Amino acid sequence: VVTGVRTAPALLGRIVGAVDGFNRRHPWSHNDHFHGWIVRGLPMRRGRALDVGCGHGQLVELLADRFAHVDGVDVDADMAEASRRHFADDQRVTIRRTAFDRVSGSYDLITMVAVLHHMDLQSALQHAARLLSDEGRLLVVGLARAATPRDRARDLASTVLNPIVGLIKHPRAASGPVGEPPFPVLDPVLSFEEIKAVSEAVLPGARMRRRLFFRYTLEWTRPPLNGCSQPLP
Ligand SMILES: C[S@@+](CC[C@H](N)C(=O)[O-])C[C@H]1O[C@@H](n2cnc3c(N)ncnc32)[C@H](O)[C@@H]1O
Repeated sequence: VVTGVRTAPALLGRIVGAVDGFNRRHPWSHNDHFHGWIVRGLPMRRGRALDVGCGHGQLVELLADRFAHVDGVDVDADMAEASRRHFADDQRVTIRRTAFDRVSGSYDLITMVAVLHHMDLQSALQHAARLLSDEGRLLVVGLARAATPRDRARDLASTVLNPIVGLIKHPRAASGPVGEPPFPVLDPVLSFEEIKAVSEAVLPGARMRRRLFFRYTLEWTRPPLNGCSQPLP
């Protein structure tokens, strides 16, 4: 029995190591996975879009085919520079190195993928609401801390499904590092319920859903200021 107790953690460690190695050989992006959800939720009016924390610019590229103009902002110098180089000859796109709270203007769409937990939640949502045009859309793919058994069960399901999706999306095993250089990452502090409470207070009618692959989605449409609706909190 003593031997069994001693070997169980070692066995678990080997399994985790093997799964980790498999995931690295069949990589895929949990963030890009939600681009389809974003495209399905675009607003009717498609003048100007803003991607906050644009990273390497994959989402900016997708939006550039669908909007008259796309602004991508990232506070990180390397990310902004890499994106700027990528879109150097693309008149439909402007990339700037700046923090979201310094952005001004009016947007029909604001997207935030894996970036909201880098900012103060309440002020970031309030700022997004101010920047949106009437009936403009905010689409967030976010990360939340697993705080409840329900959150942990979902994370466990994501962990099990991750290598299967990897095998489908990246069937040929990668031999070395793949893709772009890594971007700045941060562990989320707030739980789904905590984020939901703030979103509902700041963005009345916002819809949040727990998702697989360690993400939630949040969507909100700014009500038209035609005198019928309450001013935003
Ligand atoms: C985890 S990465 C996600 C990048 C990209 N959205 C994606 O889906 O691949 C988060 C990005 O947000 C940027 N970021 C963090 N805080 C920011 C802020 N206050 N304003 C703008 N960008 C920010 C980071 O520099 C980083 O590139």
